[in-house]
Amino acid sequence: MSTAIREPLPRILSGVQSSGKLHIGNYFGAIKQHIERQTHGDCFFFIADYHALTSLKEAEEKELALASKNKQMTPRPARQILADNVRDVAIDYLALGLDPTKAAFFRQSDVPEVCELAWILSNVVGMGLLERAHSYKDKVENKITPNVGLFTYPVLMAADILIYRSHLVPVGRDQEQHLEMTRNIAGSFNHAFGEVFPLPDAMFNETAIVPGTDGRKMSKSYGNTIDIFAEGKALERAVMGIVTDKKTLEEPLEPETCNVFALYKLFASPPEVEALAAKYRAGGFGYGSAKKELLAKIDAYFAPARERRKLLERDPGLVEEALTSGAQRARAVAKVTMRLVRERVGLHQRPV
Ligand code: TRP
Repeated sequence: MSTAIREPLPRILSGVQSSGKLHIGNYFGAIKQHIERQTHGDCFFFIADYHALTSLKEAEEKELALASKNKQMTPRPARQILADNVRDVAIDYLALGLDPTKAAFFRQSDVPEVCELAWILSNVVGMGLLERAHSYKDKVENKITPNVGLFTYPVLMAADILIYRSHLVPVGRDQEQHLEMTRNIAGSFNHAFGEVFPLPDAMFNETAIVPGTDGRKMSKSYGNTIDIFAEGKALERAVMGIVTDKKTLEEPLEPETCNVFALYKLFASPPEVEALAAKYRAGGFGYGSAKKELLAKIDAYFAPARERRKLLERDPGLVEEALTSGAQRARAVAKVTMRLVRERVGLHQRPV
């Protein structure tokens, strides 16, 4: 019998933004990897509701602007937008296959210790580090008046990662600087108070950028998305509206430069992709037909998740149960970390 000690699995953690309907760019860019990892690591995934507070005012204003154009729409107050978004992401993840008995899946704010750690960490972070953050600078350049929460966003993110002593953080390239800042902050803390935090590594997902219906990167802010849970007419409208070049039906088409083809590749098997490429090159095959093939693929791919989503919508208790058990697991880890942190910085241990 082997006496080797089994290394514990690495802790994999990621925060999920809750900013409305998820699209297939979100799916292939992040969600799919999160869900696949749940069987390979000790996974913690949370819905970043504290972070959502930093941009709720913009969300509310956007909704007001939309409602002023569309008389049927009643604009929701910020607190309703936040609550709806958190609930929707929770249901979406569970419907797409997140298994709460494998990964700890929870709301960030159900572990308030993370705010305590953010405060403690903010005392080892220089102003300069935060002033260099792209996410903050971009917002300021876009004339958004920053609040302090937006400025210290990266410190709370570092606390999210460090409080669970995470090793690997699967994120998009846009989060690269935040991860560097986290390593920097962990290093400063360890230097000042002794080794407490492992330095986490980012895990980038190398899936090619998912094109939107206009050919630019799929993004909510460009209005070029195909939503994961769209069905029927709405899905059809999005797919049939994908921008293509103006070749005639007789002409051969170029799979390499076509948005419809790029999306098809995400959903189809290699032989199916080859078969579609052959039809493109042969000529006499129009974009309308290509779009219909893509539509059928997307529709079938997400059909089981759509059905699960409908069941979950009718069973809020089940969703709540998953989030509560996730929060219990996460909070137990956070409490152990915070005992050590308080001891190291010289704060007294809170009576239990
Ligand atoms: N900032 C991340 C994003 O915009 C979300 C996030 C918050 C996060 N805390 C995190 C991601 C901790 C990874 C780890 O997508």
